[in-house]
Amino acid sequence: MKICVLPGDGIGPEIVSQAMRVLEVLKQDGLKMEFEYGLLGGGAVDETGTPYPEATQRLAKEADAILLGAVGGPKWDTLPREQRPERGLLGIRKQLGVFANLRPAILYPELANASTLKPEVVSGLDIIIIRELVGDIYFGEPRGIEERGGERVGYNTMVYSESEIRRIAKVAFETARRRNRKVCSVDKMNVLESTQLWRDVVTEVHKDYQDVELSHMLVDNAAMQLVRNPKQFDVMVTGNMFGDILSDEASMLTGSIGMLPSASLDENNKGLFEPCHGSAPDIAGKNMANPLATILSAAMMLRYSFGQEEQALRIENAVKKVLAQGYRTGDIYEPGTNKVSTTEMGDAVLAALQ
Ligand code: NAI
Ligand code: MG
Repeated sequence: MKICVLPGDGIGPEIVSQAMRVLEVLKQDGLKMEFEYGLLGGGAVDETGTPYPEATQRLAKEADAILLGAVGGPKWDTLPREQRPERGLLGIRKQLGVFANLRPAILYPELANASTLKPEVVSGLDIIIIRELVGDIYFGEPRGIEERGGERVGYNTMVYSESEIRRIAKVAFETARRRNRKVCSVDKMNVLESTQLWRDVVTEVHKDYQDVELSHMLVDNAAMQLVRNPKQFDVMVTGNMFGDILSDEASMLTGSIGMLPSASLDENNKGLFEPCHGSAPDIAGKNMANPLATILSAAMMLRYSFGQEEQALRIENAVKKVLAQGYRTGDIYEPGTNKVSTTEMGDAVLAALQ
């Protein structure tokens, strides 16, 4: 298993180094992994003049998976758009063709008070949103703003092909098989033809997954149900735009952004794994950041890119254990718990792994 490690900027190097300590333990225990480090983002701009240098592109292409910290920061905010660190991130996602964005939203019982929703609504929450990442109205043509009949008109095109829907539907059903075998597909078929096709194709793909229960929901209702009764869901699958909105809504059911991992996968389960948060310049270099989202992203990497379910669970159970033991970085701290630094949280996870 060849893994390309891209720590990035801000808190990126601090949190990635804790995830690497975890992976090194699994390596010592016999898991065959090779790591290669590369530059991405602002650090890459400083050293090479570009946010996604060719050397990194080569590493990313050769690797079986990529573990990423975060990129960006105020230092690079005044650069022209093409040189900004965020361009590096879009570049690598696009180049790898990672069309399936998986975002689990799990509320750990010990963090029940971190959510803004009532504990009885969110306690025990464990859902995953699968968002199609490279199609839909974000990429559809034609698009633009033009003059028509003496006023400006803006337009975009919502478009999905059968093959695009088919491949994301498969990811959803496969994911559900590893969980509670329930998929809810979200669309707006009562108004939008492209999502009528979405519903038809998802229903067709379901024929190969009769052991998984499929339901359909209109997106406005789905937005409502996510805050009314989120525990009714297991896997939700939807297009790029609806998924953008619903995955942000779902992530906040759990409280802290410092806890949320993500995976973006291509057709062969090669993937890019990164925490949902950014480079947190306000706390960078202070040994304060929560490394758990990145550690959990490494667990997703083992599960989805390498089929190492047991090793993934080993990491996730270690994270649950440190939370149960009361270890908290600043973002999830509550009076009565044990406030720790980034490296101390890493120490605690390593101890829990043993
Ligand atoms: P951010 O996610 O970096 O920070 C938002 C807030 O959450 C800050 O108060 C930060 O301290 C806190 N936070 C984030 N991660 C944390 C962690 N692991 N532990 C504890 N607290 C944490 O978002 P913001 O401030 O909007 O963006 C900062 C920079 O990051 C910008 O340059 C932005 O472009 C970039 N960014 C990069 C992303 C990526 O690499 N995928 C995603 C989002 C933003
Ligand atoms: Mg968004």
